[in-house]
Amino acid sequence: MNNLIVLGAQWGDEGKGKVVDLFSERFDIVARYQGGHNAGHTVFIGPKKFVLKLIPSGILRPGVKAVIGNGVVVDLAALIDEMTALSNAGVDVTHQLAVSNRAHVIFPFHRIVEKMSEGRPDRIAIGTTSRGIGPCYEDKIGRRGIRIADLYEPAAFQALYETLAEDKQLLAQTFGIQESIDYSKIRDEYHTYAERIRPLVCDTSKLLNDAMRAGKRVLFEGAQGTMLDIDHGTYPFVTSSSATAGGACTGAGVPPTAIAGVVGVSKAYITRVGSGPFPTEDKGEAGERLRRAGNEFGAVTGRPRRCGWFDAPLLRYTAAINGFDSLVVTKLDVLDGLDEVPVCVGYKCNGRTLDEMPATLGVLESLEPVYEKLPGWSGSTRGLRNEADLPPRARDYLRFLTEATGVEIGCVSTGPERDETILIPGSRLDRLLIPA
Ligand code: GDP
Ligand code: IMO
Ligand code: MG
Repeated sequence: MNNLIVLGAQWGDEGKGKVVDLFSERFDIVARYQGGHNAGHTVFIGPKKFVLKLIPSGILRPGVKAVIGNGVVVDLAALIDEMTALSNAGVDVTHQLAVSNRAHVIFPFHRIVEKMSEGRPDRIAIGTTSRGIGPCYEDKIGRRGIRIADLYEPAAFQALYETLAEDKQLLAQTFGIQESIDYSKIRDEYHTYAERIRPLVCDTSKLLNDAMRAGKRVLFEGAQGTMLDIDHGTYPFVTSSSATAGGACTGAGVPPTAIAGVVGVSKAYITRVGSGPFPTEDKGEAGERLRRAGNEFGAVTGRPRRCGWFDAPLLRYTAAINGFDSLVVTKLDVLDGLDEVPVCVGYKCNGRTLDEMPATLGVLESLEPVYEKLPGWSGSTRGLRNEADLPPRARDYLRFLTEATGVEIGCVSTGPERDETILIPGSRLDRLLIPA
């Protein structure tokens, strides 16, 4: 069965796109289970660069089916834009893509609601991607959302849409928002979009379960990282969905028993976009160096990413929640040339050692990371493909990460391209990737 979940072990942008693209060669289907076009997964194939937002990275492999699951929130305009760009690049979108009929729809007014809540003077802005993700999930959980299937039932859609539009108008009035929204125009546009994607829409849970029963392999691609999960992340500075491994089952409609393994993707250091606590952030020159060397600018919004050092307690926490079988460590090459590399091995708060991830912002913000400084390495790791070619101190660094996190490293990424990768032979990950 060998169906795997690949997801972010930190605050996102760990390199999931590259890893999923690489692994997807060995799978029949790649499925997304949460998030929306807030994700930005970068894939380089030779000279071509793709940034996938809503559509699973697996679509870049001819013949691989890409599934947008029920747990994803879909902005139809963004979906059609992305489909068009991929078609223009020669991808067979019509035959490869399937979209869940149960996925919720993001409308333009969701972005306005978000602007309103981000702009409130009495609240700290989350620093969202401004894509309307949170307000769409609010409507979903509030049981007033509109799903893709509803778009094809005109009378029911009309009633749902009118109620939702009225809600948003009332909200805008209450908060004195001046934006004028043409609700009828949006409704008509969405009818056109719905017709455009009609051939791709189906019960994707059935599609996935039937395929798995027929012996096909599925790779579940997490958007975002575990620390942005609505339950387990640094709440409220999180996204509004279940980004953890558990979310794959509800967000794709597959049973936990269908999953053979969970693979975490982590940078060799750490980054975060948007506001919120970040214990190992380096706001000085060293952080700036990481940003430059790692080209750490948001793939969706272009915002500079906040940069810091590998946080082992955080990784132990995300490993426990997701049950990582193996880790992929990306961007090792970005650390090339450093004299020493700090790694956070524990947290202190008011001089007391903590052995769990604090739940409140107050404590998270006052954490004092305890660092161990590892010697840097000379020579370049960029583009290496064999573990044996790594400088000995780079190997020591990776060994240290394994010991500090308790998770085996099965793969190391040494550059953005597909072949700039070291897959450790005989590792648990190597075995999980072999078709059963
Ligand atoms: P994702 O959201 O997790 O898919 O990650 P992003 O695509 O937002 O950010 C990761 C960035 O790092 C992308 O620009 C990748 O092309 C790049 N990248 C991935 N792996 C490596 C690596 O091993 N080394 C370097 N230098 N860049 C990498
Ligand atoms: P990938 O898939 C990094 C962050 C936003 C913000 C918070 C909430 O590329 O790893 P949202 O728009 O989701 O309501 O914003 O979550 N965020 C991400 N940060 N990578 C992402 O995706 C992110 N998706 C959302 O910056 O702090
Ligand atoms: Mg990203």
